[in-house]
Amino acid sequence: MKLQAVESSSSVGKRLVLKKTPRLVLLLTVLALIIFTLIPLYKPTITPLFIFKAFSLTSSSSSSSSSSSSSSSPSSPSSVSYVPESSDSECDIFSGEWVPNPGAPYYTNTSCWAIHDHQNCMKYGRPDTDFMKWKWKPDACELPVLNPSLFLELLRGKKLAFVGDSVGRNQMQSLICLLSRVTYPEDVSYTPDEKFKRWVYKDYNFTLATFWSPFLVRSKEADPNGPTLTGLFNLYLDEFDEDWTTQMGEFDYVIISAGHWFFRPSIFYEKGHIVGCHFCQVKNLTDLTKYYGYRKAFRTALRAIYSSESFKGVTYLRTFSPSHFEGGSWNEGGNCLRRKPFLSNETRLDGFNLELYMIQVEEFRAAEEKARERGLRFRLLDTTQATLLRPDGHPSRYGHWPHENVTLYNDCVHWCLPGPIDTWNDFLLHMLKMEGC
Ligand SMILES: *[C@@H]1O[C@H](CO)[C@@H](O)[C@H](O)[C@H]1NC(C)=O
Ligand SMILES: *[C@@H]1O[C@H](CO)[C@@H](O)[C@H](O)[C@H]1NC(C)=O
Ligand SMILES: *[C@@H]1O[C@H](CO)[C@@H](O)[C@H](O)[C@H]1NC(C)=O
Ligand SMILES: *[C@@H]1O[C@H](CO)[C@@H](O)[C@H](O)[C@H]1NC(C)=O
Ligand SMILES: *[C@@H]1O[C@H](CO)[C@@H](O)[C@H](O)[C@H]1NC(C)=O
Repeated sequence: MKLQAVESSSSVGKRLVLKKTPRLVLLLTVLALIIFTLIPLYKPTITPLFIFKAFSLTSSSSSSSSSSSSSSSPSSPSSVSYVPESSDSECDIFSGEWVPNPGAPYYTNTSCWAIHDHQNCMKYGRPDTDFMKWKWKPDACELPVLNPSLFLELLRGKKLAFVGDSVGRNQMQSLICLLSRVTYPEDVSYTPDEKFKRWVYKDYNFTLATFWSPFLVRSKEADPNGPTLTGLFNLYLDEFDEDWTTQMGEFDYVIISAGHWFFRPSIFYEKGHIVGCHFCQVKNLTDLTKYYGYRKAFRTALRAIYSSESFKGVTYLRTFSPSHFEGGSWNEGGNCLRRKPFLSNETRLDGFNLELYMIQVEEFRAAEEKARERGLRFRLLDTTQATLLRPDGHPSRYGHWPHENVTLYNDCVHWCLPGPIDTWNDFLLHMLKMEGC
């Protein structure tokens, strides 16, 4: 069930090695394992740059008061009125249920150009639309649907960065689409590298940036002909990924996240030396498991932020996003076919989802204390539970045309847009309001 699939692939791989199974079998297993995860979900020949392709469609007009796809939205984009409600601060917004929301969605694939092709489920013929029509109801309060004018007004003159992998990018595209009811940003990227995009909402002097860092720490794809002939990642678990850490100083808000890349075979370095690995197939290296790498990577990434001389902003750790393969693993015909959310009493976080989540929470707590000593604010964007309850929101086979030869035919990792993770941005706005920014 679920991503345990990937887990069992790894153990199968290990067993194969122990039994000295013919190299080809091992290779196939490892190759399949590597091909999974976030970037090359589809054709392995596609470069990682492909994933940002949607952005190349950027309109250059800075403030086209673009069409609103929904007149039934609960809050008019043109009205801004925000009165802090003190009672809200008592409420755990992350504990609740999904309830029907006939007013959703607030954008479509025609009103918003920012939806990544592989998450544009309607384009590929997804027949049902109910998965768009839910909202999150915290047990003890209301969570308003994101009001784009309010969001832009609150962030006037500010800079917000997303740091992470393609699920982080998925959230950023959701945000661009939610805000598109008011306006679109202008592309002001400082590099042609699609992994590092920068947008400005000119009318609001609000900057949105994305930094590609799927492991959060310095990493390198080792020799593609490495021990398994499929390439391994070297993870320098105690070293900052300077592609993003050197730039945080100018940002007011940083949202970091990471997850599924840690399933990949990798070799762990600390203090410049190899300390072990995850599923690396190297005889004299200890398999420390992905949990080791995950914990150390978060520890280092959070330290990069709280130890920064220049960073004065608020840090959000967006917690692990569970996938929902059922009936087999991702490479054994597993799929996500449910058509409505779970109630909270119908499922629970377990297995590696729970393990990865707990690691994040523990590392967050430790770092938060250090940050507080330095007057910095760390916040947990604790989306895991709400996300766990949405097996219905993945692309499944509607992330590509049926005849396309894709590696992960059923994508139960990413999220259709519009869809459940629009709510991650509802959470974000709520938390930004709490900061009184
Ligand atoms: C949007 O989705 C519709 C189906 O609802 C599809 O026919 C159309 O091609 C899609 N448009 C874009 C721009 O993705
Ligand atoms: C825009 O915001 C930046 C901070 O993000 C600030 O330094 C700059 O002065 C602002 N520009 C204008 C025209 O307000
Ligand atoms: C593992 O063995 C190789 C030679 O086979 C050697 O170069 C390397 O230093 C060894 N690594 C460790 C961590 O012992
Ligand atoms: C879950 O809770 C609902 C009410 O909230 C109840 O109707 C349902 O029977 C419960 N399901 C399980 C499996 O306990
Ligand atoms: C699909 O792609 C794989 C790998 O690129 C290739 O080996 C296979 O022959 C392709 N299958 C079809 C039906 O095109």
